[in-house]
Amino acid sequence: MAKCVVTGGAGFIGSTLVRKLLEGGASVAVIDNLLTGHEKNLFEVRDRIEFHRIDIRDAAALGPAIRGAEVVYHLAAIPSVPRSIDDPVLSHEVNIDGTFNVLQAAAQAKVRRVVYAASSSAYGDSETLPKIETMLPRPKSPYAVQKLLGEYYASVFHSCFDLETVALRFFNVYGPRQDPSSPYSGVLSLFMKHLLARTQPTIFGDGEQSRDFTYVEDVAGLCIKASNAPGAAGKMYNAGNGGRFTLNFIWDALQKMEGVKLEAKYGPPRAGDVRHSMAETTAAVAELGHAPQFTIEEGLKRTLEWYRQTQPAAAV
Ligand code: UD1
Repeated sequence: MAKCVVTGGAGFIGSTLVRKLLEGGASVAVIDNLLTGHEKNLFEVRDRIEFHRIDIRDAAALGPAIRGAEVVYHLAAIPSVPRSIDDPVLSHEVNIDGTFNVLQAAAQAKVRRVVYAASSSAYGDSETLPKIETMLPRPKSPYAVQKLLGEYYASVFHSCFDLETVALRFFNVYGPRQDPSSPYSGVLSLFMKHLLARTQPTIFGDGEQSRDFTYVEDVAGLCIKASNAPGAAGKMYNAGNGGRFTLNFIWDALQKMEGVKLEAKYGPPRAGDVRHSMAETTAAVAELGHAPQFTIEEGLKRTLEWYRQTQPAAAV
């Protein structure tokens, strides 16, 4: 059974990937420091995985945990644009130094391939839509810079150290297990929380900014495809759906699903925010076999159902 390592495996996307890998028969080791991830995210699979409570800033600890792995999925990160502005040192150390440590440990352990979770934020505010991989990056926040640097490092580990790497630029991933408890949480998890608690969400700006919201199962599936795709080593691909929806549209759709009327509050636009984001998916479809399964309606429905079952209204 091939051993896979998932850094950030107790996080929202990582824990979905862990389940998919187990379903496919892999043996899975998780590396997570539980700073933003939670062991409860791995609840029913906990006894089927190896769990290493390791911080990726701790280079010496990574080697033994990665040894023997065929593939490393590197998802551990401090994943937030505003958090990288409020606390740039922490996000720099985790997202850049930590990524370097993971790549270095993987190269030393002779891992076959590393799949790196990059970010659509690297595109910044370039006018053109959809965002295509060949565009010049225009990062607008420390987070965007950090994730972009990780891509460059991944590519250089391929060219200089003979480590196969594939970077996937995630586009606003949402779905079950996204933690809504922090002000830095992804907007759709916050929308779900407010909808079920019947409280008003705050929309930063006019709500007409748009995102290529991508359901977590589709992203996890693409990670696995990227681990095997021939000819992909050293490259970067968009991991989005190729559509975009405004925050106003989504909040409206959620109210309709729930049969409630709750006006959102509007606040000033957030620093470092990108106006519109949408992926060009041609390369990922052609070269990785990307085939997103979930429409926004289906994804929202499933996500809402998960929050309804797991987050009692009184607690949100
Ligand atoms: C960015 C990246 C994304 C990355 C994520 C990590 C872009 C286009 N996308 O997401 O690839 O995975 O960082 O965190 O850069 N908002 C509200 N009210 C809230 C919270 C957020 O209106 O309570 C707004 C934000 O101002 C933003 C949008 O919702 O316009 C999405 O915000 P968020 O979910 O934090 O993700 P991005 O910053 O777009």
